[in-house]
Amino acid sequence: MTEHREPFLYVVVCASGIADGVGELITSAHAEGWKVGVIATPNALGLIDQAAIEAQTGYPIRSAWRTPGSPRPLPAADAIAVVSATFNTINKWALGIADTLALGILCEAYGLGIPVAVQPYVNSALAAHPAYAESLARLRTMGVLVGDYVPHKPKSGGGRDKYSWTHVLDLLRPMVCSM
Ligand SMILES: Cc1cc2nc3c(=O)[nH]c(=O)nc-3n(C[C@H](O)[C@H](O)[C@H](O)COP(=O)(O)O)c2cc1C
Repeated sequence: MTEHREPFLYVVVCASGIADGVGELITSAHAEGWKVGVIATPNALGLIDQAAIEAQTGYPIRSAWRTPGSPRPLPAADAIAVVSATFNTINKWALGIADTLALGILCEAYGLGIPVAVQPYVNSALAAHPAYAESLARLRTMGVLVGDYVPHKPKSGGGRDKYSWTHVLDLLRPMVCSM
């Protein structure tokens, strides 16, 4: 008998000024039939409501590597959404740097063939750095689906009202439907 289980989405949340809004994506993903586990960068942990997210997902937030032999806290991912993605994480991911659990999971996803979508949250001053365009181009060549966020003006209070948390689900839907 074929076993059917609900698809599992890893939501990687980075330390941007809007990281506290990640619950919106979790709500929409649940409505689409995903189970969700959150992986926060260590810097993002202080910017999110950890207890509320764990209550919402039913899984512990992961941020650090588990010790050898301890059980896996989350099922394997069917897809990964990277949200409020920072300049820092985007550039390190593209370079293959894996010094946080989030980056390790993202770097490994390419070799594992797991679909990944990223919605950046970066201001236009950071986005002007040549490394940023190069990183996005490299991630695209790796098959990463890059979202539609247009960098906001620096020192403007940010672009929270223009940020789509759910666009990553639109990007991943065709990938996962065809799996
Ligand atoms: C309150 C606050 C807001 C920040 N907002 C952003 C942001 O919107 N985008 C960004 O790329 N970095 C932002 N940063 C800087 C990142 O947190 C910093 O580069 C950090 O190293 C990112 O870590 P991570 O990529 O591991 O999450 C912010 C930092 C703080 C403290």
